[in-house]
Amino acid sequence: MSSKVRIGIIGSAGLIGNYHANLLTDNEGPWRLTALCDINADRLAEQCRQLNLPGTASADELVARDDVDAVIVATPHPMHPGHAIAAVEAGKDVLTEKPLGHTPRAARELVKAINRCRRIGGIHYQGRARPALMKVKQMIGAGELGKLLCIRVSGSYYKSDFYYSLGGWRGLWDLEGGATLINQAPHDIDTMCYLAAESAPAELIGRWTNLYHRNSQAEDIATAAGAFPNGVEFSMNFSVAMHGDPGRFEIFGSAGAVTMIGGEITRYIRYEQDLIEFCRQYGGPNPYGAPQVAEQPIPEVGEHDKTLLHRCFAEAVLTRKKKKLLVSAAEGLWSMDVINAVYLSSHLGKKVKFPVRASQYDKMLAELIANAPQVERGGADSAAGMEAKF
Ligand SMILES: NC(=O)c1ccc[n+]([C@@H]2O[C@H](COP(=O)([O-])OP(=O)(O)OC[C@H]3O[C@@H](n4cnc5c(N)ncnc54)[C@H](O)[C@@H]3O)[C@@H](O)[C@H]2O)c1
Repeated sequence: MSSKVRIGIIGSAGLIGNYHANLLTDNEGPWRLTALCDINADRLAEQCRQLNLPGTASADELVARDDVDAVIVATPHPMHPGHAIAAVEAGKDVLTEKPLGHTPRAARELVKAINRCRRIGGIHYQGRARPALMKVKQMIGAGELGKLLCIRVSGSYYKSDFYYSLGGWRGLWDLEGGATLINQAPHDIDTMCYLAAESAPAELIGRWTNLYHRNSQAEDIATAAGAFPNGVEFSMNFSVAMHGDPGRFEIFGSAGAVTMIGGEITRYIRYEQDLIEFCRQYGGPNPYGAPQVAEQPIPEVGEHDKTLLHRCFAEAVLTRKKKKLLVSAAEGLWSMDVINAVYLSSHLGKKVKFPVRASQYDKMLAELIANAPQVERGGADSAAGMEAKF
């Protein structure tokens, strides 16, 4: 292989496919974008003209190209496993969009195929490259927050019915496998799993409902609470129905707590005594006695390198060292399982333990698809979606 990874994109002319194409062509790095693939003929033709690259409507053709070493999969999530598996079976490395797929079975098949074919497999959780997140992870690792107790996460990513009319797959149980939980929330869910335990939770109880969206069959709000195998508790609430509330993380330890809003650290506090020690030692007389809270300066963080995830992926490909990945595809199973567990828990009306059982999930999804309400399909021009910014 040359000193640059030659990359092809499947789903290149969509919202995020176009973002990848621009990122790779606008920034210098150990990569070269060599081929495009999309079934939207008009948008693909325009993209090929702008970037002066060859294009095809066939994913099989793209993965078979000699001038492609690695493939970015940017199609709707139920297609990620099929496209990623085709890539690795053709001997290419793969960077898939999030989430890994739409069911536990499909997501696991994707990860197994990467391992079976001995390829490098990453997932595009680019939020992991945010300096504030790296800082908080380092603070937790260094014990600055004491024993990690609980993470509360919420995010509102308002979307209109117009958004759900784009692309013909959004918010449909068969073509998207859900709505806000599986599309907008995965980044925050991944962050929660990464900070809490670097694993999926042990169990959760969740519910979802659709408050007012007519072009979506699935949830516009979802809530869950549970615990990780290491005992860290969590609660989460995600919605496309509420607005004006950027993603918020509150990370509580026995020695201190950190708040992140909109991807930045906005508050850091420490307690004059460890909460657990105080709890066990304090003998009164104040019934409400608690350690003093000391506000701390907001920790300094570095510059945000928006190409870091692609850089790490390319280096992993060039060196054949999967440890160089910023986020491996296998780590994508943490968030995938959380998403699937919330749908399943809401459907069953009870707690779900991890890993989510594939057969139980497939049965639930078949029922949701069979009973899904007819939704309005607007005549919106999906080309408008190309204007979205990340
Ligand atoms: N990491 C992020 O921040 C981020 C942001 C947006 C979307 N995404 C993810 O990216 C994926 C795509 O989302 P989007 O919003 O870009 O959707 P989109 O509908 O805008 O783009 C999907 C593209 O795939 C193409 N496509 C569909 N079937 C195809 C096939 N068989 N072969 C080739 N091309 C095909 C479509 O024509 C379309 O251009 C989703 O899984 C979504 O969750 C990730």
